[in-house]
Amino acid sequence: MTTATTTLPTITKIGGRIGAEIGGVRLGGDLPEETVAEVRAALLAHKVIFFRGQDHLDEAAHEAFAQLLGTPVAHPTVPSVDGRYALGIDSHHGARANQWHTDVTFVPAYPAFSILRAVTVPPYGGNTLWANTATAYAGLPEPLRALADSLRALHSNEYDYAAVRPDALPEALAQYREVFTSTSFLTEHPVVRVHPETGERSLLLGNFVQRIAGLTGRDSRALLDLFQAHIERPENTVRWQWRAGDVAIWDNRATQHYGVDDSDEHERTLRRVTVDGDVPVGPDGAPSRLISPETVPAPAFGIASGASTAA
Ligand SMILES: [Fe+2]
Repeated sequence: MTTATTTLPTITKIGGRIGAEIGGVRLGGDLPEETVAEVRAALLAHKVIFFRGQDHLDEAAHEAFAQLLGTPVAHPTVPSVDGRYALGIDSHHGARANQWHTDVTFVPAYPAFSILRAVTVPPYGGNTLWANTATAYAGLPEPLRALADSLRALHSNEYDYAAVRPDALPEALAQYREVFTSTSFLTEHPVVRVHPETGERSLLLGNFVQRIAGLTGRDSRALLDLFQAHIERPENTVRWQWRAGDVAIWDNRATQHYGVDDSDEHERTLRRVTVDGDVPVGPDGAPSRLISPETVPAPAFGIASGASTAA
């Protein structure tokens, strides 16, 4: 094989603790194996990586590329836009992601990677922020690390949508809520998970957390606020200003993200494909567990994120 036509990807860090832009790669299902390996290594090292100018991607090519990173999975409750794996993230939808979260943590084996592609971007605003939950953990004072190591938390897709979206129309909220919580999930995760590929410990929290197991509301809220504040420290984050055709890929096992809701009524449309994850384990080796329902129901197409509940 000749190397004359092979361009090595360029990797440019954006933030000190998280985020890098990758150049010289045209994403798709036909990427050479060595490029996939470099993309994957950059993803694990930088937690979120960005690619400009991927306008050639459509839903099928987006999914074909996702397959190079793992097994695409469907959202457990929200139907896709293409009947397969591409989830629509639309500014006119009933819910926006303007809360710090990790995708789909209300099931045990939540996605390992999320691949988000910008189709329509607003003239201003609508940025997305990511936070590194591994450096957030590493930066905790030792007594707080020890405390976090000992805790478990309950995650659910049932939360107060009206509180999250005070400006949403009641009908839109009711409709979104009905779809999003068509099955009500409750999962117990360790507050600290050990990354299956890097071995790093990270904080596993975000807006699907209902409470810390074994604590009452007020104590639980105080601890959640304490740990979450470390995750959200600006030094721990990177912010991306979208252009149409951009792709962001993040390691969903070591990050939280936040979609900033500041583009007024302008249209913002993105497509997300997620890749299957593994059941988290805590520092003591205890895995996450699905409390209810007994199993993750099958989606309309393919397999659902988190369907695997075996450790
Ligand atoms: Fe998200």
